[in-house]
Amino acid sequence: MPESISAGIHDLSFATTEFVLPHTALAEHNGAEIDKYHLGLGQRSMSVPAADEDVVTMGAAAAAPIIERHGTAGIRTLVFATESSIDQAKAAGVYVHSLLALPPATRVVELKQACYSATAALQFAIGLIHRDPTQRVLVVASDVSKYALDSPGEATQGAAAVAMLVTANPSIVRIEAQSGLFTTDVMDFWRPNYRDTALVDGQESITAYLQAVQGTWQDYRAQGGRPLEAFSAFCYHQPFTRMAYKAHHHLLDLNGQDAGQATLRQAIEPTTAYNAVIGNSYTASVYLALTALLDQADDRTDQLLGFLSYGSGSVAEFFAGTVVPGYRDHLHTARNRAEVDRRKPITYGRYRALHEQSLPTDGGDHPTPEETTGRFRLAGIRGHKRLYEKG
Ligand code: COA
Repeated sequence: MPESISAGIHDLSFATTEFVLPHTALAEHNGAEIDKYHLGLGQRSMSVPAADEDVVTMGAAAAAPIIERHGTAGIRTLVFATESSIDQAKAAGVYVHSLLALPPATRVVELKQACYSATAALQFAIGLIHRDPTQRVLVVASDVSKYALDSPGEATQGAAAVAMLVTANPSIVRIEAQSGLFTTDVMDFWRPNYRDTALVDGQESITAYLQAVQGTWQDYRAQGGRPLEAFSAFCYHQPFTRMAYKAHHHLLDLNGQDAGQATLRQAIEPTTAYNAVIGNSYTASVYLALTALLDQADDRTDQLLGFLSYGSGSVAEFFAGTVVPGYRDHLHTARNRAEVDRRKPITYGRYRALHEQSLPTDGGDHPTPEETTGRFRLAGIRGHKRLYEKG
C-alpha cells in the first residue's frame, strides 16, 4: 500500500436494546445511595435486551445503516467481535451476514478476548486494507454485559453494538501505525463456558486495567508513538465511565502531568455521553466513546485522539487516530441520540425477570415473545437452531 494511502474508520453506527433500567430503580431495590452510581461509577442507566434481542440482532441493527449508505461492494470480510457469544462453533457474524444479505464471497469470523477484541478486529481490518486498498472490512462489536443479580457487578451491566466500515482513505478517523501492546495472565474477569453471567474480581479488574494503561503507554512510546501533549482527547474502554477518569489520571501521573479535575474533565467528559446511559457494552464500549466524542458540538478536525482498549484477562492496546477534515458530514448524531432515547424504561422487577430468562435447551420448538421494535429479532429456537427475522 503506498504511503499516501491511510486506513481507518470510514463510517460508524451503533444500536442498543429495547429496554433501559435507570440506576435509580436498582438503588431503590438494593438500598445503595444513588450517588454511588451517578458519581462513584458515573452511570445513569443501563440497556436491557428484550427476550427477542441478542448480540446478533444488535450487531445487524448497527451494521444495516452502513450497508444502506455504502452498499456491499468491496466488503469481503466481516469480523464480529464479542465476549457474549451465542455459539461455541458458529460465528455470530454469519447470522449478521445473512440478515444483511451480504454477498457469499465474504470471509466471516468471530474474535474473542473480553472487551478488547473489537480493537483486534480493527487492526486486522487495516492489515487487510494495506494488502488491497480496494477492499472494505465490516467490523461489528456486539455484547450483552451480564453479571449475577445482587452482585457488585450488577450496576455495571449494559448492552450495545457498534459497527464500523474500515477502508482506505477513511472519512472519519485515520488510524496511525504505532500501537502499544500489553498482555498479562490475570483472573480479573472471566466467564467459563458453563455460565451465562461473568465472574469478576472487581477491584482486581480496576488494578489490572490501570496496569495495562501503563504497559500499553510504555510500549506505545517505545514504538515511536507520539508524546502525551499531542493528544486532544482520549477514548478509553468504559466498563463504567468513572473508569475512564481513573485511567486518564493514571496516564497523566505516569507522565508527571497535572491530573486536576478540570484537565480530566476536558479530556474525558465528551466521550462518556453514550456509555453513561447504555452501560457496559464490552467490545463496543471504546467505540461508543469515540461516537460520543464526535457527536459533541466541538469541531475535532485534524485533532489526534488516543484510544485505550482493555480486555480483562488481559490484553490491551493503545493507539492513535486523527480526525479527518469533513468528518461531520459523515456523522449521524440525531439518529444516534434517537437510538438511545427510543428505549423504554422498565421496572426493577421486569428487568429481573428478563435477567433470569434463558433460552430452552431441550431442542424443542420455542418461539420467543415479540418484544423488540428493533430492525431484527430472535424469532425463537427450534432443534437447537436460533431463528432470526426482520422486525
Ligand atoms: N457517593 C459518591 N461516591 C460513592 C458513594 C456515594 N454515596 N458510595 C460509593 N462511592 C464511590 C466509591 O468511593 C467508589 O469510587 P472510587 O473507586 O473512586 O473510590 C465507587 O463509588 C464504587 O464504589 P465501590 O464500593 O468500589 O463499589 P463496588 O465494590 O460495589 O463495585 C465495581 C464497583 C466497579 C468493582 C463493580 O461494579 C464491578 O465489579 N464491576 C464489574 C467489573 C468492572 O467493571 N471492572 C472495571 C475494569 S474492567
